[in-house]
Amino acid sequence: MNKKNSVFIATSIDGYIADKNGGIDWLHSIPNPNNDDMGYVEFTNDIDALVMGRTTFETVCGFDVDWPYDKPVFVLSNKLKEIPESHKGKAFLVKGTLAEILDQIYKKGLNKLYIDGGTTIRNFLKEDLIDEMVLTVIPILLGGGSPLFSEHPKELKFELIKTKTYLNQVTQSYYNRKR
Ligand SMILES: NC(=O)c1ccc[n+]([C@@H]2O[C@H](COP(=O)([O-])OP(=O)(O)OC[C@H]3O[C@@H](n4cnc5c(N)ncnc54)[C@H](OP(=O)(O)O)[C@@H]3O)[C@@H](O)[C@H]2O)c1
Repeated sequence: MNKKNSVFIATSIDGYIADKNGGIDWLHSIPNPNNDDMGYVEFTNDIDALVMGRTTFETVCGFDVDWPYDKPVFVLSNKLKEIPESHKGKAFLVKGTLAEILDQIYKKGLNKLYIDGGTTIRNFLKEDLIDEMVLTVIPILLGGGSPLFSEHPKELKFELIKTKTYLNQVTQSYYNRKR
């Protein structure tokens, strides 16, 4: 079974994934009368599990909606001692190096992973562990906040597979890592 680590994330034009206050309301700044999911369901149908950072996990836990995932969610954290009672059985705390964590997940037969959270994605990129990135750009300049990318040790080449435009305003690009 082919292993694949994928990113599916929305950024501002200036490359932020959260604003200066940690907010993500701007993700919904383009009118979307028919609730177009912009490829999210198709993407998530094809993954086996999620790997997410503690901040993103806590952000999702704080949403006023039911738990949105029907796949196992592996949460990276040094601080968390355990997953809150409310999310046990749906989310699982994992510790160790990324290689050790991936090994644990692959051993469960989960091979196609959705990697989420800014720090988490950057940590995966630093070790060249991302195979696919789907980047959705919302036409707004936030001027600061949490960046998606930062410096990392070496240049990584990606190949553009396709681009799509949603709502006449939002561009989405699929990139594969060129190895
Ligand atoms: N625009 C979007 O589509 C989008 C998508 C997802 C998230 N977001 C937003 O982006 C922000 C999340 O940002 P973030 O940079 O804080 O990232 P994050 O990756 O969600 O969380 C970072 C935390 O994850 C843990 N972590 C990450 N890598 C680890 C590793 N290798 N080993 C152990 N623990 C590890 C650490 O937790 P501990 O501190 O507990 O050790 C770290 O502080 C949130 O505001 C979220 O709402 C936006």
